[in-house]
Amino acid sequence: MCAVWWVTQLVAADSPRERLSLDAGWKFHLGDDWPGAPRLDKAGASSGPASETLFSDVAWRILNLPHDWAVELPFDRSAEGSHGFKPVGPGFEKTSIGWYRRGFQLPKEDASKRIWLTFDGVFRDATVWVNGWLVRRHEGGYYPFREDITDVVKFGGRNVIAVRVDATKFEGWFYEGAGIYRHVWLDKTAPVAIDPDGVFIYSQFKNNVPSDKAEIKVEVSVLNTLTNAATAVVNCKIISPEGKSLASFKQSEVVQGESPGTAKLKSKVSSPVLWSPESPKLYKLVTSVSIGGKIVDQKETLFGIRTVGFDATNGFLLNGKHYELYGTCNHQDHAGVGAAIPDALQEFRIKKLKEFGCNAIRTSHNPPTPELLDACDRLGMLIMDESRLLGSDSENLRKWDDQIRRDRNHSCVALWSVANEEFGVQSTAQGAKAARSMQNYVKRLDPTRPVTYAAPEGDSASGINGVIEVRGWNYHPGPDMDTYHAKHPYQPNVGTEQASTTGTRGIYEKDPVRGYVVAYDEPPHQWAQSAETWWSWFADRPWLSGGFVWTGFDYRGEPTPYGWPCINSHFGILDTCGFPKDNFYYYQAWWTTNVILHLLPHWNWPGKEGQEIRVDALSNCKQVELFLNGASLGKRAMKPNSKVSWQVRYASGTLGARGFDEAGNVIRETRVETTGDATQIRLTPDRSSINADGEDVAVLTVTALDAQGRVVPVAQSKINFTIEGAGRILGVGNGDPSCHEPDTFVPNLPVRSVAITDWRWKLARISGNSAVPEYANGFDDSTWNTLKAKADGTSQLTIKTANTTAIYRAHFTLTEEDLGGGGAQARFAGCDDEGWFFVNNQFVGESHDWQAQPTFDIKKFLRAGDNIIAVTVNNASGEGGLNPNVNVDIVGKARPVPWSRSLFNGLAQIIVQSTREAGKFKLTASTDGLTPATAVVETQPCPARPFVP
Ligand code: GAL
Repeated sequence: MCAVWWVTQLVAADSPRERLSLDAGWKFHLGDDWPGAPRLDKAGASSGPASETLFSDVAWRILNLPHDWAVELPFDRSAEGSHGFKPVGPGFEKTSIGWYRRGFQLPKEDASKRIWLTFDGVFRDATVWVNGWLVRRHEGGYYPFREDITDVVKFGGRNVIAVRVDATKFEGWFYEGAGIYRHVWLDKTAPVAIDPDGVFIYSQFKNNVPSDKAEIKVEVSVLNTLTNAATAVVNCKIISPEGKSLASFKQSEVVQGESPGTAKLKSKVSSPVLWSPESPKLYKLVTSVSIGGKIVDQKETLFGIRTVGFDATNGFLLNGKHYELYGTCNHQDHAGVGAAIPDALQEFRIKKLKEFGCNAIRTSHNPPTPELLDACDRLGMLIMDESRLLGSDSENLRKWDDQIRRDRNHSCVALWSVANEEFGVQSTAQGAKAARSMQNYVKRLDPTRPVTYAAPEGDSASGINGVIEVRGWNYHPGPDMDTYHAKHPYQPNVGTEQASTTGTRGIYEKDPVRGYVVAYDEPPHQWAQSAETWWSWFADRPWLSGGFVWTGFDYRGEPTPYGWPCINSHFGILDTCGFPKDNFYYYQAWWTTNVILHLLPHWNWPGKEGQEIRVDALSNCKQVELFLNGASLGKRAMKPNSKVSWQVRYASGTLGARGFDEAGNVIRETRVETTGDATQIRLTPDRSSINADGEDVAVLTVTALDAQGRVVPVAQSKINFTIEGAGRILGVGNGDPSCHEPDTFVPNLPVRSVAITDWRWKLARISGNSAVPEYANGFDDSTWNTLKAKADGTSQLTIKTANTTAIYRAHFTLTEEDLGGGGAQARFAGCDDEGWFFVNNQFVGESHDWQAQPTFDIKKFLRAGDNIIAVTVNNASGEGGLNPNVNVDIVGKARPVPWSRSLFNGLAQIIVQSTREAGKFKLTASTDGLTPATAVVETQPCPARPFVP
């Protein structure tokens, strides 16, 4: 069965609304090679890639969004360590600006519709042109932005979007990526339609405690872009999680011309099925808008019925009952792909977090990707939804407004956070006022959720802590919390950020040279605590509501406590791939009800025979007994929220453990064995079948096994990958925080430039693009004047008088091989004032801007052997003519790239995305000396998300 996981925001067939993905088929160029492109003097006049017609992008790389070019760049020791030593940001201007272009057709029949362009997130500043018109400048890397582009598009023709992305400034102190790293959408609506993010649905119960009837409130903002007022009938239908229609209600609203109008509606759901992380049941609201009995818009919104609240004594309340938050903070970053996380990988990550009992994510320190919230609604994961920055200026509040309106229908969102660790202002009156303004703003848009601030402070109520609804605690578990609580008994609390425990997966000996820290749950250091320290403190105090570990996953940047060669953080419970570190089992023991028994370290220590090694058991059994090669090393009692340790003299063989319940019964056994050397590779996909929609991904684990099939925990071989069939490799990783191997292998397009510098010319009475014999290949131009390009790229102006026209001709030769490549373009250095361009007697384009440097795609006009370019130039005033510095660029075919990645402590990961072809892909992993492995993953037929072709 094809599971369609992009179900929200569906639109009905009888509504003119279309939501089309604009992710596929972008052209990309790294580098700001057109600094003059943004022209501010005239409308629609921007040049270079921003120009609609005078630019060819055939030499640019083709890619699909989401895309992060920072992850593709090599590591650079001189770059910012907090951002993962990637050459992006201040000081790296050449690799910090990128251009994207995308063409699309709009049918004539759309002429009466509104056309919207939405970017879910671009890192960082974006300038967007449509058909040469500058339509938007957006500053900031984490907020969505959209533009109504109806006025500048062509119906019944081709349109071009160009985006210049500037990542030369950082926002955070962690890896942030670079590029269009979230989805892009083209929405089409009727002139009277539901506003973007114009549906808000929420449920309420008396005293915020669920009872047998949920009050449902719906606000629908209708946007009327016509000049006349319209009477819109807003019709709402509620569908149960099982698909039963439960309620239908409507309201009529007169919406003035060129304005929005809001309809407020109410209904009830009896005996509601409540949403929770354990049972994430979703209802559906179908909202339609009719005018004169005709449906003009329809939209579906998934929502959950549940209540959230924070109580000073009972902590976090979900559906009226105490609910411990087992949270993790996470940045948007994964091995292989960086910040450009496909939706299916969001889902993979959430499931990994749920495995150890995590039930809440803090989107530190920025608004999340909407599809993360969709997946959290569906899979059951609470969200603390954080803004990027504290501030009550109009720009920050506008972004805050966008974030709240976009995210407030998600049942997963339980708490808003105005900011994180604003050291400079948090205890000032100004900081308090800005936080209060943001908090008050939430109350206007969302009456259902409280607000917090992630405060890195102990017992201090000055500034923000004094005005914020829920006191957030970054670190400081200890007596300060009790003192603060005693002094402020009516303020609820939450552990917004805790732990910062460091550990490298599979490492049990400190290694400052390679930058590895041990994976034992180390005792407190600096601001950080061990998992055991912070969690035992919180577990004893339900009023603290639980908290959020820094972090669920490792992320690039902040390579604490070491710098280079270490390039990513070690704070995660999981590494950058999602492979568990040992602390995973600590949390699993105390955050889930499963019986857990885990031993560390591994037991491959040749040369250490007879030396003492610390062995920990992570377990929720009442007692644990340890054995080495069958001999008992003693039984230890397990205190709640703790672990037990032994010092064991190493001898190879089997380290075994038994876990006992209260009555002394063995309820779990585990063992760690000394393995042999690696002899074979194992390749395990997370799913045997994925959707052939061009978006779904399979995440494959690469493991080295010994002859007996046991995972070799110290294997480091470099594995090579090849793929056949309906899949493409997106990236590779291994969780090694000091690995400098590439995560992606980008095919380079070879480009051969032919300089065309020798021209013949003569004055002629010709105008426009009409055909004349002079454009033909065989025409004899031997008696014409000659014109040569100058080495400095400037031009000798050949037409001396105004209102005069001349023809220019030049020859170049191509081979059959040149024509079989990826394309060809002609690049002109300029023509003063207007020009009409021909290749082999065929018209290729025209320019009416003397400042433009037109580039045309000419592949289809070329032939093997002799080719001719002819240009007619009209000089309007002063002197003019053709600048003879012209190049023809022959673009070769992208060569297949060899993918590889070393194992780190036995493991590596490879992420493969489906194409839109149903069938299968076959991935092979091989290396010298080990038996190779092959994995076959089915790609099952599945309708692709509606997209712009
Ligand atoms: C916190 C901060 C996080 C991260 C962490 C590292 O203070 O909020 O973003 O930097 O420290 O321990």
